[in-house]
Amino acid sequence: MHGRRLATTDKIIVLTSPDSEEPLNRLQDWAGENDIDVAVVELGEEIGDKYDPEVPTLGVTLGGDGTFLEGIKLFTPLGIPQLGVNAGSLAFLARVELEELEEALDEVVSGRATVDSRQKLHADAPGVDATGINDVMLQHVPPENPFDRKITRLDVFVDGEYVGQYEGTGLAISTPTGSTGVSLSAEGPIHMPGDNHTLQIVPLHTHSLGARPLVVSADAEIQVVTREQASLLVDGGRAHKILTGGDVINVTGASKDAHIVRTSYDDQFMTAMAKKLNWGLRAGDDTDGPRELLEDGIPEKEPSVVERARQVAREAAASAGDPLRELHGRVEDVTYKTDKSDIVTEADHQANRIITTVIENEFPDHNIFSEEAEYQGGDSEYKWVIDPVDGTGNFAHGNPQYSVSIGLLKDGEPVMGVVYVPETDEMFHAVKGGDAYKDDKKIQTTDRTELDESMLLSGWDPDGEFLTHFYQESRGVRALGSAALSLCYLANGSVEGIWEYGTQPWDTAAGVVIARAAGAKITDRHGEEYTVEFGADGRKELLGTNGPVHDNILEHLQKNDELM
Ligand code: IPD
Ligand code: CA
Ligand code: CA
Repeated sequence: MHGRRLATTDKIIVLTSPDSEEPLNRLQDWAGENDIDVAVVELGEEIGDKYDPEVPTLGVTLGGDGTFLEGIKLFTPLGIPQLGVNAGSLAFLARVELEELEEALDEVVSGRATVDSRQKLHADAPGVDATGINDVMLQHVPPENPFDRKITRLDVFVDGEYVGQYEGTGLAISTPTGSTGVSLSAEGPIHMPGDNHTLQIVPLHTHSLGARPLVVSADAEIQVVTREQASLLVDGGRAHKILTGGDVINVTGASKDAHIVRTSYDDQFMTAMAKKLNWGLRAGDDTDGPRELLEDGIPEKEPSVVERARQVAREAAASAGDPLRELHGRVEDVTYKTDKSDIVTEADHQANRIITTVIENEFPDHNIFSEEAEYQGGDSEYKWVIDPVDGTGNFAHGNPQYSVSIGLLKDGEPVMGVVYVPETDEMFHAVKGGDAYKDDKKIQTTDRTELDESMLLSGWDPDGEFLTHFYQESRGVRALGSAALSLCYLANGSVEGIWEYGTQPWDTAAGVVIARAAGAKITDRHGEEYTVEFGADGRKELLGTNGPVHDNILEHLQKNDELM
């Protein structure tokens, strides 16, 4: 899955080109209607104090690919996501067409757009120190005398290993989105660009059979040594130098990615490329989406509401993870309690805002119940139950064991759960009746039968009952601090049993679906099936196990009851 959701935008910084006056007026009118601030930066100008890191900001470029590339220079160092509007003619990078400006912006502010990270590259050579998003081209310089050599020879090393002499008209080192046309004509590969962190080295008109296109990781150190004069261009001339023989050019992936906003008004990558290069993806196919039909013209099956909900929840949770990771890092540096609690409140608030915006936009009729917001209820059978930060105590102390919990109930029954752990980037998910997964890997509870061989987890256990009682009976009892995560640890077999003295629906709605799909048994302390309840009955105890050790733990709990 690529592309996190861009859920919040309070300000737009527009980079304008000389001929973007009319589109700028349209953008400003639209922003006025939507209560969004606009700041304008002209080509060549700095952003300066027009950008405030506390305000969720979108960068928009109005122009062609040249303006888009200038936007990358301006917005990437500040981490501002960028939307390219094509106010020029032919553009590969600025993908929103002018006619659809307002619709695309509507999609961005309503949280339906996504952000892809795009690899950039960095080149240094005598007199050049440049970062680009497309390519570094090293090319033969036409000789003044027509009888002189018409090729250039370049020795190429990757991480110190000699990979060959590229003898021909030159070579292109490009990012997955860079110099697509050049690379294709030289029989280089096509890269799907989303979150693809590689660089490719493609020989141009090579004379040697051994020099083939090569794909390397983005942090590989590519070194090219010229044997004679060669021209060096970064991003089609944004940096340019004529090199002499014996010069060394170092190229590697840049440390900061560009963040490119994608809306449904952008063509998908293959469709866009096919259109620009005039390819027919499918003979006689004039539809505009490659996903519309499967083989033999069988219509693609519509995913069910619950399946779609899982996808949306995964995207929402991953997007909420970004600000949480950032704020968690700040909490670790703060020693004063008051400041910490501000950060924690901010974390709850930001994560909640992102998650609910994404869900509201995809499922406008559904009810949404979040620990951190007012209940939004209608008469839908579906109810989302969200804890934007489960494990607040851990979060506030800089402990990485906190999670984002997003569950869906249908007629009161939990049917879909996503629990995301921002610090480890683990995504647990399941739908009722299916398997449970951590990322794309199926997970299952253990089949251990003996309590004295089992590891247990407790959450809230106010008088230490569970710990005191089971510490000697088992391999150990650990206290975790995030009920949603405890349920996932039960699901993936890290523990055989978990105990929570008093859970709330938002702590468990997602986790119970995941744990049950992995094979867990979940009851109250009397062995009655655990249900997610709201209102006065909301807070309830939960015993979850792998199944075989359940009765044994219940018996001990009941004996304990009798003693009390
Ligand atoms: C808490 C955690 C904890 C559990 C508590 C919950 P919060 O949620 O899930 O593990 O034992 O009962 O309140 O307050 O961190 O969202
Ligand atoms: Ca919670
Ligand atoms: Ca919480």
